[in-house]
Amino acid sequence: MSSPAAPLLTPVPACVAEVRKETHDTFTLTLEPANGQPLGSFAPGQFSMLYVYGVGELPISISGDPNEPGRLVYTVRSVGRATQALVRRRAGEVVGVRGPFGRPWPLEAARGKDVLIVAGGIGLAPLRPAVYEILRRRDDYVRLIVLYGARSPKDLLFRKQLAVWGRLPDTQVLATVDFGGASWRGHVGVVTTLFRHLRLHPGETVALVCGPEIMMRFVVRQLEARGVPASEIYLSMERNMKCAVGSCGHCQLGPYFVCKDGPVFSYEQLRPWMDEHEL
Ligand SMILES: Cc1cc2nc3c(=O)[nH]c(=O)nc-3n(C[C@H](O)[C@H](O)[C@H](O)COP(=O)(O)OP(=O)(O)OC[C@H]3O[C@@H](n4cnc5c(N)ncnc54)[C@H](O)[C@@H]3O)c2cc1C
Ligand code: FES
Repeated sequence: MSSPAAPLLTPVPACVAEVRKETHDTFTLTLEPANGQPLGSFAPGQFSMLYVYGVGELPISISGDPNEPGRLVYTVRSVGRATQALVRRRAGEVVGVRGPFGRPWPLEAARGKDVLIVAGGIGLAPLRPAVYEILRRRDDYVRLIVLYGARSPKDLLFRKQLAVWGRLPDTQVLATVDFGGASWRGHVGVVTTLFRHLRLHPGETVALVCGPEIMMRFVVRQLEARGVPASEIYLSMERNMKCAVGSCGHCQLGPYFVCKDGPVFSYEQLRPWMDEHEL
């Protein structure tokens, strides 16, 4: 992985190279430079501000491989006006890109340890680049464990990739759904129910967690109950964003600006704000 380039502070035009349907409401977009102006490299966990001309700008995590230069990949769940407009782009259309922004997942600090990834829903998107990077430098890490929860089988992202990762040595991948239906043969229950299938080595584990805040709170409880220290638990937070560079205050969370101090924080940093305020 090359070091992330200085972020682009004004949107540069990028051409939609591909739009792939992942699930009924989630799409993966690949962007390539439109005018020969490079889109820059990124570190796993960082996000861009994507500008849909005439509609608005929104923060979206980069979900592609950090070692695939020249293109940026995003996985977007269509929930409202801006995301709907974004996923309706067609190949050849242009969107604006600023970034990449934010602090990445602590993959250097995790070297020599087990990495436990816990994702809920679209939260798997910002974690996928971390998996790519760990697999690229596989000898730097001990076990890779991925726990993934979605609402139903039709909401599961990257199913083929999960299956491939799950067959790799020293890698465990478990997926669960809240509601299975008649044809689902896998786990049913919220993502924390998967912890019973794990043997954690708490002093030698770094946990990377992304999903709805309620889910992250329950995951943290499980991790702490199993002895994983707060300093080894990392969460990716979402807040409304405007500038993405720490000057407008829209994304404030306690003493932090999520855009520049996060989106990835250690639970040690976040604990006072998660405990004292209902986030
Ligand atoms: C750092 C960061 C990274 C992000 N990465 C991604 C990503 O990789 N993929 C992705 O799809 N989204 C991601 N998001 C969320 C995305 O930015 C929002 O979903 C988007 O801004 C919503 O805009 P909208 O105009 O489509 O919807 P709005 O009109 O703003 O909202 C429509 C409805 O959706 C609800 N909503 C808004 N945001 C969310 C959300 N995050 N989750 C669930 N419901 C929501 C609103 O409460 C409202 O009911 C990220 C956000 C941040 C801050
Ligand atoms: S979005 Fe402006 S300070 Fe974070």
